[in-house]
Amino acid sequence: MNKKTVKDIDLKGKTVLLRCDFNVPLDENLKITDSTRIVAALPTIKYLLENNCKIVITSHLGRPKGEYKPECSLAPVAKALSELLGQEVKMAKDVVGDSAKELKANIKEGEIVLLENVRFHKEETDNDSEFAKELASGCDVFVNDAFGSAHRAHASTTGVASYLPAVAGFLIEKEIDFLKNTIDNPVRPFMAIVGGAKVSDKIGVIEALLDKVDSIFIGGGMSYTFFKAQGYEVGKSLCEPDKCDLALSLMEKAKTKGVKMFLPLDVRIGKEYSPDTEVKVVPFDQMPEDWEGMDIGEKTIELYSKELQGAKTVMWNGPVGVSEFEKFAIGTNAIARVLADLDATTIIGGGDSGAAALRSGVADKMTHISTGGGASLEFLEGKKLPGIEALQDK
Ligand code: 3PG
Repeated sequence: MNKKTVKDIDLKGKTVLLRCDFNVPLDENLKITDSTRIVAALPTIKYLLENNCKIVITSHLGRPKGEYKPECSLAPVAKALSELLGQEVKMAKDVVGDSAKELKANIKEGEIVLLENVRFHKEETDNDSEFAKELASGCDVFVNDAFGSAHRAHASTTGVASYLPAVAGFLIEKEIDFLKNTIDNPVRPFMAIVGGAKVSDKIGVIEALLDKVDSIFIGGGMSYTFFKAQGYEVGKSLCEPDKCDLALSLMEKAKTKGVKMFLPLDVRIGKEYSPDTEVKVVPFDQMPEDWEGMDIGEKTIELYSKELQGAKTVMWNGPVGVSEFEKFAIGTNAIARVLADLDATTIIGGGDSGAAALRSGVADKMTHISTGGGASLEFLEGKKLPGIEALQDK
């Protein structure tokens, strides 16, 4: 990475404003159900502690749209972080108010303060410069380790970099290095699996990957737009009829580039979009009008698994079915298991596919699971990430 990191500057005893992505899932009792993002921030936090820094952490959780919402409080994160570090993390009741000011003013070397959810202020997403200045006040350095939010140009991800020297933490460095090396220097054959609901969300990434990969496997809701484009019945499945031309042009592009593009051979369909609906598997070209495609079928699993055996690098982005419903997680779990057993570099592009790998119990068998959903997608599309751009060059 060509940006400065915590290792490139003297941090001894400094007050550091650290941006983390603690946007973690919570259940109805506000218990954290997946703490991957908190654990992923620990190397940077520990490094700052070793350097006797005073650490002021800022993060968002959810999309509270500029107002206080108890279910978006970072209090559960403060508790989890305290437990993981074995030291108290002081929780400010606000972001730039009296509580934050007092805790910042009295923080000592080796102590950690977590500010409340920065999105309780609409100035955060507006990237308001006065707000960024207040957030930065009392701090000497800005360390951005929020890879998951690096595609957002917000006050806490880019705005504060106008007021403080800004460098990357270890998580951002690791994420960029993994994604960039995989894309730029893959060991071949390089194969990609792209799932997810909409073609429109994945156009950019499919186009970019077609320039790099040897094979691409399509799954998930977007498959039905590819089927519709070829004139097949898709029943009540997710479909974007206005993207049919685009689906055909992606198939054409794959052909021109000599990239093997695979579409499902059969689909697991449900009567209703519900976890307990009636299920059957039909060939892709025999979908009944009143059923909905929600996963790939056995023949597709067999084909994809067989083809993937030859891969030396695999990039996976997006589940191949409605993986949050057990009956329709079969394809996604099967793909996760195939990847886990491959003798290959396996990179999972965060978000839902990362969660699916975790649910399948094989997360630790992957080479890298990104902590960024949208951020990893935009990176793979070749877009510049504002949260990275704002950091000092090496
Ligand atoms: C994510 O979960 O992808 C990041 O935390 C960014 O969240 P956002 O999409 O609400 O900006």
